[in-house]
Amino acid sequence: MIEITIDNKTVEANEGETVLQAALRNGIEIPHFCYHPCLSIAGNCRVCLVKVDGRPKLMPACNQTVAPNMVVETEAPEVQSARAAVMQFIMLNHPGDCGICDKAGECRVQEYQFKYGMAEPISIEPKHHKKKFNYLSERIVLDNERCILCSRCVRFTREVSKSAQLGIVERGSHSYVARLDAQPFDDPYSDNVLGICPTGALLSREFMYKSRVWYLEPVRSVCTRCARGCSVNVWRRKKHWYVRSLGEEKNITAYRISPLENPEINGRWICNTGFDLHKFMARPRAMAPMMAGNTVTVDEASAEANRLLAGATNPAIILSAHASNEELQAFKEKLSPRVQVYTREDYCPAEGEVVEDDLLIRADKNPNSYSVHAMFGQKAFSAAAGHDVVIVWGDQVDYTSLGNAKIIHLTSYAPEQETRADVLLPISTTFERSGTFCNFEGKTNRFEQVFDKPKLVQHASDLFGRL
Ligand code: SF4
Ligand code: SF4
Ligand code: FES
Repeated sequence: MIEITIDNKTVEANEGETVLQAALRNGIEIPHFCYHPCLSIAGNCRVCLVKVDGRPKLMPACNQTVAPNMVVETEAPEVQSARAAVMQFIMLNHPGDCGICDKAGECRVQEYQFKYGMAEPISIEPKHHKKKFNYLSERIVLDNERCILCSRCVRFTREVSKSAQLGIVERGSHSYVARLDAQPFDDPYSDNVLGICPTGALLSREFMYKSRVWYLEPVRSVCTRCARGCSVNVWRRKKHWYVRSLGEEKNITAYRISPLENPEINGRWICNTGFDLHKFMARPRAMAPMMAGNTVTVDEASAEANRLLAGATNPAIILSAHASNEELQAFKEKLSPRVQVYTREDYCPAEGEVVEDDLLIRADKNPNSYSVHAMFGQKAFSAAAGHDVVIVWGDQVDYTSLGNAKIIHLTSYAPEQETRADVLLPISTTFERSGTFCNFEGKTNRFEQVFDKPKLVQHASDLFGRL
């Protein structure tokens, strides 16, 4: 550690880090567009200029390494006027169309222009127009006019996802971000650029115009689409912005998913499958208990499940690798001594899906196989074992693979063979309960409840107490 002075305050800095990193770590704000902690230093936006004692000119804080006894000023009059000039330059051709921009409310250009920009524009030239609604892929639209050419998105595809599918072409005020050889931007991690773009240039086509971001709030969750178990934020409507009449389904809609920084598990990134988690969770639900295809009450369905289990001579259960650690524990305490336990992979890689890579994506498409195997071993169901009652815990399963057994199905989503289960009990999804999963490395990750569960849906851990 070395000591430096920033704005008359002595702060500790790590040897080799930059003035910007030391300032941010010590709670001192220096504006920055092109700097990102996980990307190389580009030093192209110049909004981070600071005064360093002994230097003839202002220095970019993102590219200035700390030195012992360095004295830095971030609010000196010349720094303030340089920042205002940089904002003036950035806004020169920026359309300033915040009123119709999805990024409004979480846009760095908007924030810095308000804080550091000049009150009045001084340019008398007309703005230089570029392409709006430049569809980079099915998922992402680029507004080249709003782009400030910070190159964060370009560096992401070169340094993190390694697809190198984005670049900056042409020169001067004609420069713009473009796809490689006009190919689709189909990088499996492409949606991360939506979050790192400091302005409204890169937007999600799916989320576009769905909601103003100040109506929403994030809830900590875990992506259930593979055994990496990345930390994510699920964005729901804030309670005081609830829709009270038409469109009440908006109150229980997950609007978007974004990465939640977790250095132990996923760093700052997730894959596109994780960005689609809310769509995966929005599939048709199993909403009411059923017996042989007929809707019944929860009590009737539980009583029938109990009757089947009490009369069974050789009952079994197929565990879900989507169950939380807490649910597995509840099952272990309340039901496991009475049944033969089998395990399965609820989900396998879909056609065309990236099975596994070196960055995050894992071949096991379930979030908690680690705990299932650690607590109950690994044994696939066999119809030849002659079970007379089988509890299936989890989504889709081919009932015909269960032999002649009576079926008690605990599922969150409507199974295709719905009418064939002797008893079907709807259970809550990850968004409707809190708990923990252990990822493929055994690292525990917590998810919080996002929405209340529907009335007739039960938590699996409660059901085990009733069976
Ligand atoms: S699109 Fe966004 S992230 Fe990419 S260069 Fe432009 S402003 Fe930066
Ligand atoms: S790597 Fe796996 S856990 Fe992470 S976001 Fe992608 S699918 Fe989800
Ligand atoms: S953040 Fe330093 S030059 Fe852009």
